[in-house]
Amino acid sequence: MSIEVAREGKLFAIHSGETSYVFAADDRNLLRHLYWGPRLSRIDEFDVPAKWDPSSNDMAMDTTWEEYPCQGQFRYKECCLAVAFADGSREIRAIPVGHEVAGEELIVRLLDPDHGLAVDLHYRCHDAHGLIERWATIRNESTDPALVTRAFSAQFHIPFEGLEFHNTHGQWGAELQPFSQQVGYGKVLVESRRGLSSHNHNPSFILDRGADEGSGEVWFGGLKLSGSFAGIVEQRTYGSTLVQFGISDHDFAHELGPGGELVTPAIVAGYSATGFADMTVRMQAYGRSLMSPEPRLVLYNSWEATGFDVTSDNQMALAERAARVGAELFVLDDGWFGRRSGAGDGLGDWWVNREKFPDGLDPLIEKVRGLGMRFGLWLEPEMVNPASDLFRDHPDWIHSEPGREPDTARDQLVLDVGRRDVQDFIVDVVDGLLSRHDISYVKWDANRPISQVGAPGAHWRHIDGLYRTLDRIRQRHPGVLFEACASGGGRIDLGALEHFDDFWTSDNTDALDRLTSQEAYSRLYPMKAMRAWVTDAPNFLSQRSIPLRFRCHSAMMGSLGIGANLTRFSDKDLAETAELVDEYKQLRPTIQDGDFHRLDNPSPTDYRLYEYVDGKRAVLFAFMPGGHMSRRPTNARLRGLDPDAGYRFYADWRWQEKSGEFLMRHGIPIWLFGDYASSLTVFDRL
Ligand code: DGJ
Repeated sequence: MSIEVAREGKLFAIHSGETSYVFAADDRNLLRHLYWGPRLSRIDEFDVPAKWDPSSNDMAMDTTWEEYPCQGQFRYKECCLAVAFADGSREIRAIPVGHEVAGEELIVRLLDPDHGLAVDLHYRCHDAHGLIERWATIRNESTDPALVTRAFSAQFHIPFEGLEFHNTHGQWGAELQPFSQQVGYGKVLVESRRGLSSHNHNPSFILDRGADEGSGEVWFGGLKLSGSFAGIVEQRTYGSTLVQFGISDHDFAHELGPGGELVTPAIVAGYSATGFADMTVRMQAYGRSLMSPEPRLVLYNSWEATGFDVTSDNQMALAERAARVGAELFVLDDGWFGRRSGAGDGLGDWWVNREKFPDGLDPLIEKVRGLGMRFGLWLEPEMVNPASDLFRDHPDWIHSEPGREPDTARDQLVLDVGRRDVQDFIVDVVDGLLSRHDISYVKWDANRPISQVGAPGAHWRHIDGLYRTLDRIRQRHPGVLFEACASGGGRIDLGALEHFDDFWTSDNTDALDRLTSQEAYSRLYPMKAMRAWVTDAPNFLSQRSIPLRFRCHSAMMGSLGIGANLTRFSDKDLAETAELVDEYKQLRPTIQDGDFHRLDNPSPTDYRLYEYVDGKRAVLFAFMPGGHMSRRPTNARLRGLDPDAGYRFYADWRWQEKSGEFLMRHGIPIWLFGDYASSLTVFDRL
C-alpha cells in the first residue's frame, strides 16, 4: 500500500520504494510533519498530540514542523503561502478539513473559512523510484479578490543540523559548477530572478549527513520550474533543518479573482539511506520516465562550424561529412531566417532567408534525408530583435516597464509569453514550419534573461505560458523532439524535462571542462537528456587542444553530438570519429538508459571514472586529464553488476572474464599515460 491514512483521517503516510513520509493533523489543527526516512511497516506508533509552547517567546506554531505553513500568527519561520486579502488582512488560518486518495495521489485539503481560501496539498507517490511529488493548489472560494504574494511548492523537514548542502553555481559557458557548504544557523538561499532557471543556480537540493557515493543519509529534490525560482534551506534554532522551494518572490504577485485557482509547480523529492549513488540512480530513472522513450540520435549541429553564416551550400557540405561519420540527425542552427546576419536582427521573422537559401529549406532537407539523416532546426521563439518586422508590427508584445525604453541584451528583447496572442503567434510559427517541412527536431533557444516586466507576476506567467505553448505544439506534432537550450544550460531543470526531450548542456564544449559540469549534472538529471558535442581543437572558448579520442569519449557520456567543422577534418580524424560514433551506437542503450555511477578514484592522480550499467553490460569511461605523478594506475571498482554473473572484457591487452563480485569488490586496474588520456572498457555479461 503506497498511501496509508489512519486515525480517522488525521494520520497520513506515503510509502514510496524503500522510504516512508509521515505527517498528521494535530489537535491544534496544524498539519505536522513527523517522519521522512527508511520505510516503516507500521505508522500507528506515532503520537500526534499538539505541541506545547516551550516558552512565551518560542511558540508551538513556530517550532512545529509544518507541511505547508501559511503566513500569520506566531510563525516567524519561512512560510509557503502569503496572501493579501481584500479586507486588508494578511493572516491565513488554514486548517485541515478533509482528504482524498485517488490512486497514487493523496490530497489533503486546508481551508481558511474566514477568507474562503482553500489550499489543496497534493502528494503523488512514485513508488518505482522511491520518490514523492508535492505541489499545492490555491483556490479563492470567496466573492472577493485576493492577491497571492508567495506560493511555494512544499516545505520539508530534516531532523538534523549541520547538514551538507550541495548545488551548482556558474555563469554562461561555466554552468553546473558544483559547490557544497555546511548549513549553519541562518539560511541558505539559491535562486534565479532571471525568468530562466539560469546558469547560476539549479532549482534542486541535495542535503547529506556524512554521505559518500555508497553510504550515508541523503535528502534531495528537484523543482519542476524553468523560470525564476527560490530554494531556502534554514537550520532552525530549534534543532532541525527546513527546506522550501517554489516560485521566486522577486517578481511574483498573482491576483485570484472569485473562483480563481493557482497551481504551484511540483517538486519531486526523495530520501536515501545509502548515499549519492542511490539518489542518482533513482532520480535519473525518474527523469527518463518523463522523457519520450526512443533512443536519442547522434546529431550534427552546425553552430560552431558556421555561426550565423549559414548557406544552403555550406550546410550541404557539412551534411555530407556528418553522414560520413555516422550522424543520424542534422541540425541547422541560428542564421537561416529573416534578415539575420548576426545577433542584431531577424529574431521574430521566421521566414527563410532567400539570400542564404535561394530555394528555401527544402533542398537542404532533401539532401539531409537523402544522406540517411533526419533534419532539425534552431528557433528562438520567445525573443525578438528590435530590428525585425515582428517588433515593428507588435511593439507591445514585449516585457517592458511602461514609459521606459527597454534594455536589450544580445540586441534582443523578450516577448511576453504570458499573453495569449503571443502564445498563439508562437504556436502558428512553429506549427507552420513543422507542417510545411520534414523536420524531426527543434532546438528551442532563449539567449537572454527576462527583465523590466512592469506589473509583478510576469515571470511566472511567462513560464506557465511557455509550458502551455509547448503542450499545444507538441500535441500537433507528437513525433518531433525538442531540445531545451538557453545560451547553453540556462534551463536545466525537471520542469524543462517534462516539456522538452534534451538539454543543451553548455556552450562550453571543452571536453575537459565538460567533465566537471557533466558530473554535477549527473547527480539529479538523466544522462540521456544531456547533449554533448565533439568540437574542434583548439576549443573556441578554452583555446585548449584536446586529442580527438578524449573529446569523443567526453561527449559520448551523454546523448552524443558533433559540432566540429568536419569540412576541416583530415581523413584520419573522420575515420576515428566514425569508429567512435559506431561504438557509441552499439553502447547507446546502456549509456542512455542504464544506471549511471561516479566511481571512486583511489589514486592521487586526477582520474575520473564513470560507469553505465544495465542487465546486459557495463560501460566504463576513464579520463586522466594530466600526466603529472606519471605512471600511476588507479583502480576501478564497478557498481550495480550481478555479483553471481560473469563479465567478459578487454583490458591489459587481453580478453578477460571475471565475476561481478570480483569486479565490484576488487575492481580492475586502469592505467592511462600522458595528458588527456582516456579509455572505454565494455564488460559484457556472459
Ligand atoms: C546559444 C546556443 O547555446 C548555441 O548553441 C547556439 O544555438 C547559439 N545560441 C545560436 O545563437
